[in-house]
Amino acid sequence: MRQGNVVASLDVGTSKVAVMVGRVGYDGELELLGTGSSPANGLRRGVVVEVDRTTAAIRRAVAAAERMAGVEIESVVVGLSGDHLASQPYRSSVLVSGEDHIITPQDVERVMEAVRLRKVPPKREIITILAREFIVDGVDGIFDPVGMVGMNLEVSALMVTGAVTAVQNLLQSVYRAGLEVEDLIPAAQAAGEAVLLPEEKDLGVIVADIGAGTSDVAWFQAGTPCAQIAVPIGGSHITNDIAVGLRTTLQQAEELKLACRNLREEGAAEGKFFETAGLTGQERRKVSERELAAIVEPRVEEIFALIKERLFPADSPEVIPGGLVLTGGTAELHGIAEFARAELGMSVRLGRPALEEMEVDPPTAWSVAAGLLRYAADNHPPPADEGHRRGLVGELWQRIRSWFEDIF
Ligand SMILES: Nc1ncnc2c1ncn2[C@@H]1O[C@H](COP(=O)(O)OP(=O)(O)OP(=O)(O)O)[C@@H](O)[C@H]1O
Ligand SMILES: [Mg+2]
Repeated sequence: MRQGNVVASLDVGTSKVAVMVGRVGYDGELELLGTGSSPANGLRRGVVVEVDRTTAAIRRAVAAAERMAGVEIESVVVGLSGDHLASQPYRSSVLVSGEDHIITPQDVERVMEAVRLRKVPPKREIITILAREFIVDGVDGIFDPVGMVGMNLEVSALMVTGAVTAVQNLLQSVYRAGLEVEDLIPAAQAAGEAVLLPEEKDLGVIVADIGAGTSDVAWFQAGTPCAQIAVPIGGSHITNDIAVGLRTTLQQAEELKLACRNLREEGAAEGKFFETAGLTGQERRKVSERELAAIVEPRVEEIFALIKERLFPADSPEVIPGGLVLTGGTAELHGIAEFARAELGMSVRLGRPALEEMEVDPPTAWSVAAGLLRYAADNHPPPADEGHRRGLVGELWQRIRSWFEDIF
């Protein structure tokens, strides 16, 4: 059940659960009402491994968002991440059913159903099927074939699948928190909604949501995703490496990571030092910028090497006009855009969601939640409109009554 025109999103991340709640206006405008977050500790590499802990974190984040917004959240659009996600292009076709050969919504449904019936590998399930384009009697590049005349309707689609266990444990955690799930959307696709420009998506662009435990990537072309992958590494692995390498606590390693201004060993200064304490917190010692960079560099390199390998299993495409847009908390790592530019050989920019005056830190960590909320608003059936209409009818009736009262 939806509460009027309230929409909400839920991003269950490895480091934090993020919730956003908004209201859809009569004109479809989305007004952000509140945000809520809670540290998460039931996930590993973007995947739920402990349902109870995850449920508790979801409850806390939802309660915080509800308090801020002053509304109740009953259902959510949920993001899905982790390297179990995979995508596969498919084509299917059907004969147009009507005698007049005018394509109806039912024909479109049938051709999408033909894709849905494709065999999915064992232990995997379909997350979403995205129509990339329709082809009518060989004419391609059609986005809405309804009303067109033709004999043969074909669709070129992208099927995104995920591991059943990962999907079901996430859904369980959400249900147990007392929420209904409206939709499940791949995290990178959602992040794209929040940080990419329509022109970029049309021309071709890649968005990478680099979080704490996973880096989710979506490649958009002609407006829609043409591939979605993920790699099981994120900022928490960098923090861990620092903690292990320098024999310090995770908290101190995190501080060092945020202070790190140079991700390349070669460019880092030997004479610039950070102070840190050992595992016991007793022995204070100095760590040079170069020492720190020597630990950070290989991990960041690994993230982009894996993204490249999984996104372009054959050869890298010649040009991706929109380049790469980095988001997720780890996109705030100083110098990561230049690093990615050198590794992938394409233009790179940071993508931060526009969150009005909401204070979230860092904003890049909220791209998925923001994109999911946008998605929820765009797919919102129009109860708001009905309410609006009811309001108008009521108003009109009032006017008619007072008009009658004036006469009699
Ligand atoms: N200013 C910053 N500089 C570098 N790293 C940062 C900064 N701020 C946050 N991070 C890192 O971002 C990560 C958290 O990002 P985010 O909130 O996007 O992850 P998540 O959604 O919880 O996890 P995931 O998406 O991987 O499941 C942490 O590893 C944190 O250290
Ligand atoms: Mg995330």
